[in-house]
Amino acid sequence: DYFDDAPELEMHLAKNPKNKHLLAMVQEISSLCDIHYIRQKEPLGLGDAVLRAEKHICDEPFAVLLGDDIIKNDTPCTRQLIDTYNRYRCSVLAVEEVSDAMVSSYGIIKGKPLEDALYLLEDIVEKPTIEDAPSRMGAIGRYVFTPEIFDCLHHTNRGVGGEIQLTDAIRLLNARQNIYAYEFSGRRYDTGDRMGYLEAIIDMALEQDDLRGELLEYMRGIVGRLE
Ligand code: G1P
Repeated sequence: DYFDDAPELEMHLAKNPKNKHLLAMVQEISSLCDIHYIRQKEPLGLGDAVLRAEKHICDEPFAVLLGDDIIKNDTPCTRQLIDTYNRYRCSVLAVEEVSDAMVSSYGIIKGKPLEDALYLLEDIVEKPTIEDAPSRMGAIGRYVFTPEIFDCLHHTNRGVGGEIQLTDAIRLLNARQNIYAYEFSGRRYDTGDRMGYLEAIIDMALEQDDLRGELLEYMRGIVGRLE
């Protein structure tokens, strides 16, 4: 709804000339892009969720962005993956070194270093134990895929947790075509983690000129009281 036309709100804002800039803002939002939503009928996993989008994508390469990972960088992480795709015309996964404690929360890759920050994917294991992990490089929530991933998803059975795992489809795709893993530049916030969520909110708020001063004052107050 946020990105859709809002006729009632627009009518209301249009009545008062003082709201001209707000009206322009609301109208701009709805003209940014067309958004199509698809609901998963059942929670069958990330692979199933991606497969639901097949009819909107057809035979094009496309990006997958998992909303609980937020990445801050002047060149957005997805742009970095698209640039890599444009060089190699292959699927690309964004990866980052994760701590030992977090290895079992990610798809962990085995990659052959090719050049700075770029690996050729040799394998990927979904949420391995620390003993089974082929590295410490975790796939985070940004991917660019060639459309062949859909055929792989159609051939993917339920895996870890009884879900259709995107990771299993990536393994199938890797048997057919090269896949690259790219160690992106940027700071990632995992907002699925409570601390990551707080860090994201505080860091983003500190970047807003109209919030920074007040927030710093508030935080200084807290620290003062604790000392
Ligand atoms: C999913 C993927 C996993 C990936 C992670 C990134 O897991 O299955 O391979 O490393 O996203 O955030 P989820 O976080 O949905 O459990």
